[in-house]
Amino acid sequence: MPERTAVFTLDNNMAGKMSRLLEDKVAMVTGGAGGIGRATSLILAREGARVAISDVSVEEGTETAEQIIAMGGDAFFHSADVTREEDVENLVSQIVDRWGRLDCAYNNAGIEGAIRPTIELSLEEFNHTIAVNMTSIWLCMKYQIKQMLTQDQGSIVNAASAAGLVGFPNFADYVASKHGVVGLSRTAALEYAAMSIRVNCVCPGVIDTAMVDREAKKIPGIKDLALKIEPLGRLGRAEEVGEAVAWLCSDASSYVTGHPLAVCGGALAH
Ligand SMILES: NC(=O)c1ccc[n+]([C@@H]2O[C@H](COP(=O)([O-])OP(=O)(O)OC[C@H]3O[C@@H](n4cnc5c(N)ncnc54)[C@H](O)[C@@H]3O)[C@@H](O)[C@H]2O)c1
Repeated sequence: MPERTAVFTLDNNMAGKMSRLLEDKVAMVTGGAGGIGRATSLILAREGARVAISDVSVEEGTETAEQIIAMGGDAFFHSADVTREEDVENLVSQIVDRWGRLDCAYNNAGIEGAIRPTIELSLEEFNHTIAVNMTSIWLCMKYQIKQMLTQDQGSIVNAASAAGLVGFPNFADYVASKHGVVGLSRTAALEYAAMSIRVNCVCPGVIDTAMVDREAKKIPGIKDLALKIEPLGRLGRAEEVGEAVAWLCSDASSYVTGHPLAVCGGALAH
């Protein structure tokens, strides 16, 4: 037997120690007022993280923080529009002022875009989707990585989409923004790997949230269409994305960086 297989045996000291994935970590979640952002915030807290939640939606964002506190966790809400550099910079500062560090982040805030054929999109609509979904990811990473460099470690997860890996008719602005998120994540991963900062993204398929309800109003039948291409035969649940994010944030994924992780029920396996 090759000697190196011995490495794969569990350390005896680990027996009986079932620690949580993110014990004592400080996490930041954007777009945490509902949907995938709220579900992920709760899962990060369940795994032991202190969670800073932000969103433009103040009431629901505050509710997410209150739910964590009610679970016995530690959280606060800070209002921030991720398209505004001063809001993002201020958000990261608030976290560091309060908890002294930032270990992991889920840059999740996003919109579905205008949902029109390519030639019917206005420049304003296109630019808005790119600003909310893609430029915001660069802005968040800019301030998160600056902080993480002072700590010599960190893990960032960005919200891409299956639409970051393949095209979808009528979603040109959204698809462009999410392909951009995959590219930004890979580039930051390469730039900061040597400083022990990992950057990955999740690529969810169709997840049953308010965003998809809004899409279904514009394109009736979109959920049935999604079910047809879903090998698991159902839409995804917000918490199924949250579980993947928690793993990517944690040291359990220590050898994973620059990776777009599909959480899509197998739809991208076609
Ligand atoms: N639901 C899906 O099927 C699906 C699939 C793939 C990727 N995603 C991505 O996952 C993320 C979350 O999606 P969701 O389905 O939970 O959507 P959602 O609409 O339920 O939640 C999005 C959140 O982002 C917030 N937000 C929007 N613009 C903002 C801004 N400028 N600043 C701060 N917050 C802002 C909203 O207030 C909302 O709370 C998005 O980036 C989305 O593109 C969703």
